[in-house]
Amino acid sequence: MRRRIVIPAAAAVCVAVVGVLAVIGNAWWDSRIPATYSVMSYGAHDFGGGSEPTAHDAHGPGGLSVTDLHGAQVAAPDARFALVARSATIRLASGRSVEALTFNGMSPGPELRVRQGDDVEVVLENDDVDKGVTIHWHGVDVPNAEDGVAGVTQNAVLPGQRYTYRFRVDQVGTFWYHTHQVSSKEVRRGLFGVFVVEPPEKPPGVDLAVAVHTFDGVPTLNGDDSSGRQTIAAATPVRLRLVNTDSFGQTLTLSGTPFRVLAIDGTDLNAPTELENIALPLAAGGRLDVGYVQPPGSVRLAIEGSDVSIGLSPHRAPARGEQVPAGEFDALAYGTPAPTPFGAMSSYDRRFELKVTRKPGFFDGRPGRQWAINGGIYPDVPTFIVEEGDLVEMTVTNDTNVVHPMHLHGHHVLVLSRDGVPSTGSPWWSDTLNVSPGEKYVVAFRADNPGIWMDHCHNLPHAAEGLTMHVAYAGVSTPFLIGAEHHNEPE
Ligand code: C2O
Ligand code: CU
Repeated sequence: MRRRIVIPAAAAVCVAVVGVLAVIGNAWWDSRIPATYSVMSYGAHDFGGGSEPTAHDAHGPGGLSVTDLHGAQVAAPDARFALVARSATIRLASGRSVEALTFNGMSPGPELRVRQGDDVEVVLENDDVDKGVTIHWHGVDVPNAEDGVAGVTQNAVLPGQRYTYRFRVDQVGTFWYHTHQVSSKEVRRGLFGVFVVEPPEKPPGVDLAVAVHTFDGVPTLNGDDSSGRQTIAAATPVRLRLVNTDSFGQTLTLSGTPFRVLAIDGTDLNAPTELENIALPLAAGGRLDVGYVQPPGSVRLAIEGSDVSIGLSPHRAPARGEQVPAGEFDALAYGTPAPTPFGAMSSYDRRFELKVTRKPGFFDGRPGRQWAINGGIYPDVPTFIVEEGDLVEMTVTNDTNVVHPMHLHGHHVLVLSRDGVPSTGSPWWSDTLNVSPGEKYVVAFRADNPGIWMDHCHNLPHAAEGLTMHVAYAGVSTPFLIGAEHHNEPE
């Protein structure tokens, strides 16, 4: 009697255990990312409540390949640059040396400055970076084939190979460039630089771009890990272009002068007001331009709470310490409203939800707490399908306990609201938006740049862990593959 009960019970437990193992085994098996695949083939297509385009299978009538979307090849470009990627030992001001990956032997790579309207040509050559290199023009809304994403818009440029980028710049502002092949490692090791588009009439004064980057755990400003100095005559107007090239937020302080935030992510703000003693948080990948008029005393730009700084002063003005900031810059109500091409009241062709959470599961066969987008772990993430001309609204929610700087390639989004509070200051256009834990942003953009565009977290290790997806235009396909013989691995 006893045995009869015990045996079926044990058997039932066994069956249950086997069943659970089978489910887990399946989840593990399914999560493995194939060695070679197309970004078009994964996840589910999300049409944002808009029409389902007939050509969305990409090979349909009127279909375009990413390779049809190159910038124009002009005989005599206005600006021409050559960037050679190679490994090199660089020396920080403190004397510390870093085994870096460089453009033209330096990191940051050369600062590229062009004029609005210029036709730009950049020849990238890879000397010895064995995993390959590309260049992504972060924040520049280039044609899709110039976007530099390995496995999506081109193949990684392997040692000994070259690739030429061509695009015309219509924007004005502060941008940066970086490799988009194994970017979580290669950008950290130094494959980046600043890209500035100046207005046709350059305003008088000092214009200084400052890239923040951490090498081997050592924070630097333009590659300098100490307290640098720059001489600026009193009464000179100064524009500082602050670029965060790290994969985490950085906060800068500007002590000794009132200032204005002139631009966010390369777009000028309308009638910004004067601030003083306010810290400047920079999203990973984000930019802020600040302006001030040089006082007779010295001004100090610093990574908050550190000695890494630049003193900006007329001759002989004594250096100054950091003022403790009384608050942090927030763009939501800063500056003065101005007309925008669309807004909260517009009628949208598509509305997407992009919800970031964390949940237990498998990512590429590894168990753990994974990033999820709309409940799916990469590659089971949505692709947002749009059609050219669409007005698109996107609600981005962060239900995790860390910040995610969300970066959409090829477009700038207009911030409509945060946590239900409308944006009431200057129009706030962004390409790299810090979404803090618990926050919800509603943003909007015009789908006016056909292609397949990444939308990912610019904490690049997060992207490498699967916090990445695409906005794809109906009918556009890519012949490039993740993996494959160039070992394309964008993140
Ligand atoms: Cu600055 Cu997809 O990156
Ligand atoms: Cu993130």
